Amino acid sequence: MKGVRKTGVFIAVLVSTGATANPGYAQDAEHGKTIFKACAACHATDHANRVGPGLEGIIDRKAGTVPGFRYSDAMKQSGIVWDAKTLDAYLESPQKVVPGNKMTYAGVNNPTDRSDLVTYLATLK
Ligand code: HEC
Repeated sequence: MKGVRKTGVFIAVLVSTGATANPGYAQDAEHGKTIFKACAACHATDHANRVGPGLEGIIDRKAGTVPGFRYSDAMKQSGIVWDAKTLDAYLESPQKVVPGNKMTYAGVNNPTDRSDLVTYLATLK
């Protein structure tokens, strides 16, 4: 993983000397996609519900609202609207942000991994 990150930075530097308007974005999303492997056991990205709800269109979505998915009351009543900030907090510590929610995942500790992951999630339509 370390090697991948280094290569990524090298490519980002190359790209940023070119004419690309938003050099970091594709790079971050690509890294986020590798982090998402930890989520893919439970979350699909093709509008299907598995152990967890589908995550496409997650940005600006109200928590606990995918049709046909049986959410916990905690998630349904959280009042959260998912955006970069609320996702970052939830993915750092799911049980702290939505106590009693049923996502059995400890959280993503590394802030860069989290932010790249959210960048990737934002690409899911
Ligand atoms: C072990 C299975 C599992 C893993 C791994 C997992 N999740 Fe979840 N996730 C769930 C479940 C189950 C819920 C529903 C929680 C509830 O209703 O209380 C959920 C809910 C969510 C929600 C809220 C969705 C909504 O519609 O409100 C988001 C966002 C989310 N997960 C993102 C992630 C991300 C990103 C990862 C990877 C870092 C991840 N999850 C890893 C099972 C999992």
